[in-house]
This record gives sequence, C-alpha cells and structure tokens, in this order.
Amino acid sequence: MNEFTLSDGLRAIQKAFDLADPRLKGHGEQTAFLMWRMLDRLGCTRARMVSLTTAALFHDMGAYKTDVGHSFSEFELLNTASHCVYGYLYTRFYSPFPSFAPVILYHHTGYLYKQYIDSSFLTDSLLLNLSDRVSFVFLTQENPDLSFLNALSGIDFDPKHVSAFLEADREEGLLRALKDGSYHEKLHAFWRETALSRSEVMRYARMLMYTIDFRSEQTVTHSISVTSLSKLLCGLLGLDHVDTSIVTASAMLHDIGKITTPVEILEKKGPLNEEEMAIMKKHAHASYEILKELGFDNIALIASSHHEKLDGSGYPRGLKGDEIPFYSRILAVADILSALIGERSYKGPMPKGQVTAILGGMACRNQLDPIVTSVALEHYDDLITFSAEDCAQAMEDYHSIKAEYTRLMQQFELMEEEQRKASYSI
Ligand SMILES: [Fe+2]
Ligand SMILES: [Fe+2]
Ligand SMILES: [Fe+2]
Repeated sequence: MNEFTLSDGLRAIQKAFDLADPRLKGHGEQTAFLMWRMLDRLGCTRARMVSLTTAALFHDMGAYKTDVGHSFSEFELLNTASHCVYGYLYTRFYSPFPSFAPVILYHHTGYLYKQYIDSSFLTDSLLLNLSDRVSFVFLTQENPDLSFLNALSGIDFDPKHVSAFLEADREEGLLRALKDGSYHEKLHAFWRETALSRSEVMRYARMLMYTIDFRSEQTVTHSISVTSLSKLLCGLLGLDHVDTSIVTASAMLHDIGKITTPVEILEKKGPLNEEEMAIMKKHAHASYEILKELGFDNIALIASSHHEKLDGSGYPRGLKGDEIPFYSRILAVADILSALIGERSYKGPMPKGQVTAILGGMACRNQLDPIVTSVALEHYDDLITFSAEDCAQAMEDYHSIKAEYTRLMQQFELMEEEQRKASYSI
C-alpha cells in the first residue's frame, strides 16, 4: 500500500462537507488553496503552511453543528459567531493542530476590529477571512469578480493583503484557478508531500468522530461507545492487533455519514416517521462515499455495512449472510448494544434483561451474527463497564465544550456590541 498522505485524509473530509451541504461544494479546499498561495508569497514556512491550509479546510466545521439545511449566507455573513466558536473548540480539543484554533475563532472578525484578535494570530485570521470571502463570492455570484476586495479594504480586509492578493491573482490567476478547477490538483499536490503517521490519522478520525457525535445531545457518546464495544468484542473473538485496528477505525467512523442528517431528525424525541427514517437511513451510504475517498476500501465497506442484517432486511445494500463482512457484523452488534444502553431524552437506559432479550431475539431471527451476539451476551457486564469508562470521558469533554461555547459566545456578543457602538460614532 502506498504511503497515506494529508491529501488522502483531507479529500475525504471535503467529501463529507460536500455531502452535508452541496451549496458549499469545495468551499474548504478553495479557501485553503487561496490561503496557501498567499502564505507562500509571504514567505511562510512549509510546516506552518501545512497546518494553516488544513485549518483553512476545516474553518467552517463548526457550521455543521447546527446549520446543515440553513442558508450559507446566514452563517457566513450574518450570524457568524456560533460556527466560529464551535470550529475553534473542535480544533482546540480534538485536532492535530490545536494551536491554530484562534485563527478559526476570528475568521469573520474584520480588519477594522483587529484589536480584538490576539496579535500572534492577526495576520493568519485576516488572511483566512479574505480567502474565505473570495471563495464565498465565487460560490454565490453568477459572474464573480474581485472588485469587492478594494471596496472592503481597511474595513474587512488588511489593505496590504488586498494588494498582495490582487497581485497574486494577476500573476497566478487565482480566480481563474477556482473557475477552471485547477486549484484542486495544485492544492492536493502540495498536501501529497506530507505523509501522515498512523497516530496522526487516528487523531483526525477522533476529531471527526466527536464532531459528528456532538451534533446532537442524543448521540454524544454513540461512536465512542461503539468503538469501545467493538474493540472488546474483537479481543473476545480472538482477532489480532491489525484486524482489531481495522475494526476500531471502522467503528470510529461508521456514522460519519450522519453529517448529512439534519439535527432536527437526530434530536427528535420519539420514533421517526417513514419520511424521516428514509432520510436517516441515507447516512450509511454517505459513510461509504466519504470513507472510500480515503483509499481504504475495506474500511469504507465494513463501516458502511453496520446496518445490514443477515436476512437481507438491512440497509444500504440489503446484503445477505456471507455478503456481509464479518467485521461489519461486530459493528452491528456493538451499534445496537450502544443504542439500547444509551440514554435518550425520551427514554432511560434499558435494563439488562430487556437488552439481552432484544439482541438474542435478533440473532434468532437471523438478523445479527449468532457468534458475535453470543459472545456479547456472555460478556455483557464487562462490555458495559468497559464502554462506560470511555463514554464518561467523552461526556466530560462535551460538557466542557458546551460551557466554553457559552462563555465565548458571551464574549463575542460583547465584542459585537462594542463594534456596533464604534460604527455609530464613525
Ligand atoms: Fe465561516
Ligand atoms: Fe467559510
Ligand atoms: Fe448508523
């Protein structure tokens, strides 16, 4: 297998964003490309450019907490604070580049209000703001041009950056590269030169896992509990280290396709109706589409088959019996167990007797794998204890993020209030 590079990982992430909101197709990569060209011309080091372009790809990640299905202009122009704060928190808590989180926090704070931005991140946040806006204009206007840059120079953008950007555009054709799509290959060629270690790949996977789970209070610990349950089941089933790590990675990312599921559906108290269920079910195929971009076809297939049933009644493909990979059957048992023991706001955790009866019944009806199910039932108490420890940590992080979110949003409100007062007195 060829070396796994940053390009492979980030291609999958852009795919996830594109599926979640097609109106923003390519927005992260376009912003990263423009940021890269600017940083390069400013003499930035390669290591810093790698981190900053990665942060640029992720800059709107916070918008997927609430905004899928809402207006692009709404969160990019009007109510910008929420996605800046969530993007900052996810980056600080979970990304492999936490020190760049402030760049994301301030990516919509204009040049006129630069006194609010920490001076060590001022240039990078203003460059991200400008690159972001050029991509936004490109994606939302029929005949995009760059005249808005001069109009907003000294207000939203640093005048030095505007001149540098226009010069870069004249010399390199930045807007043309967005129009003809050539930016994509240029940017990925740059990212391909950075190999990712196994532990770095796992950090990205962890970041995505939490981003997806934290979209709803109902799913906060779901992927982490499926991951712990699957890992322990692998040990009990005698899988070796390599196979266990394939199952673990698939478990972490099995629901990544839920980035496409509206929060209202994830949060619904009570059973879903037919239409909502059809939307929810799309997440399994979306997981496949996203994970196949990584180039690990086995992980894409294993992860996306976690709702398949041995009798063919599952989804997304309706696979039967041996057509379902054995590792997906481990995920299927872990997934159902996690859902049954998890607390939802409309129901408490289910008692052991009821959970074991449901799992046993599904195995008898040829839906779940009988071997995996019997191992799970036999070691039920160990599985529950093992996953509870991991979930407690995830829950603690979730509450810290929520508290920090409230604190930072108050700070942003104060800052916006001061900005409003300042603009009245101009
Ligand atoms: Fe944004
Ligand atoms: Fe953006
Ligand atoms: Fe799922």
